[in-house]
Amino acid sequence: MSEIQKRDEWGSRVGLILAVAGNAVGLGNFLRFPVQAAQNGGGAFMIPYFIFFLILGIPLMWMEWGIGRYGGKFGHGSAPGMFDVICKNRFAKYLGALGLFISMIIMIYYTYIESQTLGFSFFSITKLYFDETSFDAMRNFLYSYQGRELGHHFSSIWTSYGFMVATFFINFWVLYKGISRGIEKLAKIAMPMLFVFAIILTVRVITLGTPNPDLPENSVENGFAFIWNPNFSLLANPSVWLAAAGQIFFTLSVGMGTIQAYASFLKPKDDIALSALTTASTNEFTEVVLGGSIAIPAAVAFFGITVTTQIAQGGAFDLGFVSMPLIFQQIPFGEFFGFMWFLLLFFAGITSSVAMGQPVVAFLEDELGLDRKKAVSVLAFTVFISVQFVVFFLKFGFLDELDYWAGTFGLVVFALLETLLFMWVFDSKKAWEEMNAGGDIKIPRVFYYIMKFITPVVLFGIMVWWFFNDAIPILMLSNANPDNVPYIWGARILMIALCLLLFFLIHLAWKRKESDT
Ligand code: ALA
Repeated sequence: MSEIQKRDEWGSRVGLILAVAGNAVGLGNFLRFPVQAAQNGGGAFMIPYFIFFLILGIPLMWMEWGIGRYGGKFGHGSAPGMFDVICKNRFAKYLGALGLFISMIIMIYYTYIESQTLGFSFFSITKLYFDETSFDAMRNFLYSYQGRELGHHFSSIWTSYGFMVATFFINFWVLYKGISRGIEKLAKIAMPMLFVFAIILTVRVITLGTPNPDLPENSVENGFAFIWNPNFSLLANPSVWLAAAGQIFFTLSVGMGTIQAYASFLKPKDDIALSALTTASTNEFTEVVLGGSIAIPAAVAFFGITVTTQIAQGGAFDLGFVSMPLIFQQIPFGEFFGFMWFLLLFFAGITSSVAMGQPVVAFLEDELGLDRKKAVSVLAFTVFISVQFVVFFLKFGFLDELDYWAGTFGLVVFALLETLLFMWVFDSKKAWEEMNAGGDIKIPRVFYYIMKFITPVVLFGIMVWWFFNDAIPILMLSNANPDNVPYIWGARILMIALCLLLFFLIHLAWKRKESDT
């Protein structure tokens, strides 16, 4: 019991909500969402998006808060221990390894991308890219910064490497400071600033009007029309539905193991029902209202619909790091708006990436008895070694391979697993009571049936669909560039090695506990 009493806890309700909202609100809200919406039918995309929000996003949020608080009562802050107490089967803890694996793998590449936002905020305020006035030039600037094609502006990768080291250092420092003095404090500073920056940028975009009077069709009104006009015919395409489900997972950070880790620091009778709903709604407001109003409408106002369509096809990097800097060069005080945009992304990123580190730190502390300093050092060492491959093999698809297995396919597998364990093995009535205990509101009864029947069936359907449509071709390297194949295998070997290491640590931890008792 003494270990349980020593656990950290949230300092305040506001701090907790901001931290969990910070966990969810991330790069996905401002970069991934607008690209997905623009590519998948605009306003029509919001139909599958909100359906999945209701039958997957919200239920998983409640379940993850429930699993987390329940595990926390027994001193467990990560999935292996949580699964062990909800299942009482000696293999369950090994299934929990997935909750450590996914969060750690995503942390590796996500924090690296986050470091680029820090770099670009600096390049904005110093106007370093302000003579790159075409798409090609700006893309070359980005690629040379990332070390993909050196020579243009950056002759080495070390500038980018420096920002990467600084970003990791800040992340691990926050993790080392702990829940209330680190993660909560960060959220209380970063989240309000993020909202202020996002609102200022939204207002700036809305007031762009028609930047070039000779091209009246390039207007911000048409920008909003472009992102929101529904193309219902696309709803017949299953890939649009899967894109919506994937976005819901990624943006809410469900299926990662991070929400449970935060919820484990709740007190047994702290509210879950309203807090989980508030954090999910905050994320949706930030994503749909703010995330949908900045990058795409601004791109249409400056470059028109045809070019913006190409930008959206090019993905989140083209939108955030190529198109936006070109716009900042064309507006008054663009260096300040650019600084604000990239710092906004940095704040969104860091409040999510520290959450991705927390499950492994909690595992090392709670299950292996390491002190926080040692636990953070072990995570820092592992992540820092792994990120070297991501940085140096970026152009060979190393990051994409990690992102597919951990950040896309892995989320739905882990979400299905936890839903089955909580609602079927633990028992749905007990799970329902657990989620409602101490609640400031009652979760509407209909969600009991959704969580028990609809959520697992839909998750299973998505998993099977993804498996046959994407996972098998990716696994068999069907469309891979032959030059990338050795690096893709490298990414797989890294993932397998980390997975085996986690299994071994789980085995060790429980053996140690058995010998202690
Ligand atoms: N939920 C985080 C994001 O949207 C991971 O970026």
